[in-house]
Amino acid sequence: MHIDILTLFPEMIDPIFQSSILKKAQEKQKFSYNLVNFRDYTTNKHNKVDDYPYGGGAGMVLTPQPVFDAVESVKQEKATKPRVVLMCPQGETFNQKKAEELAKEDHLIFICGHYEGYDERIREHLITDEVSIGDYVLTGGELGAMVVVDSVVRLLPEVLGNEESAPQDSFSTGLLEHPHYTRPADFRGMKVPDILLSGDHAKIDQWRKKESLKRTYQRRKELLDHHQLSPAEKEMLDE
Ligand code: ADE
Repeated sequence: MHIDILTLFPEMIDPIFQSSILKKAQEKQKFSYNLVNFRDYTTNKHNKVDDYPYGGGAGMVLTPQPVFDAVESVKQEKATKPRVVLMCPQGETFNQKKAEELAKEDHLIFICGHYEGYDERIREHLITDEVSIGDYVLTGGELGAMVVVDSVVRLLPEVLGNEESAPQDSFSTGLLEHPHYTRPADFRGMKVPDILLSGDHAKIDQWRKKESLKRTYQRRKELLDHHQLSPAEKEMLDE
């Protein structure tokens, strides 16, 4: 996968690619990235990328020219048909399903703005997806793009090692994850549940399933609306 991020603040984003799993994934050549400052594409003689809104009103609007030119340029370089994702609070709310969908692509382009708005022609003619990371307004799309990129890259084949594997994640199973414990078995009198020390893997699996269901019910009941409960799972919840 190749990821282009169009932003006026590339220095905000670069650090996420320089550590941990995203760094290792590049070393293993699972993805590459490019930060594009779309100010470099403006034809405005004062280097401006924004202007006053037609019809008046507060705030500035990102002009279409530098954004179109930057997107067309990165599209040409790769000769692929990328998804072009606009980060904005009006977009569809990001979730694990959307991360899984984007992880199937070969090329993603993210557009991050810092203004009151984007010229509507960017929405109408350039982008394929509009994504919000939640119902709150950030100063710009960069933090959102970082969230999306992080959750997409970790889903790419062979990015996570066995011990970090993705299919057990909260949300990818439709449920929140069960609790985890590690050594010591007794920490200041706080004990690990006996079942996890029993070596009985069928019983451990059953315990984990039940804890996962309980936790989902207690914290995110609405997730169970989309999860077809088996008779055994129903019984576990009733216990
Ligand atoms: N830009 C500003 N607010 C945002 C949000 N909630 N999600 C994505 N991009 C944004």
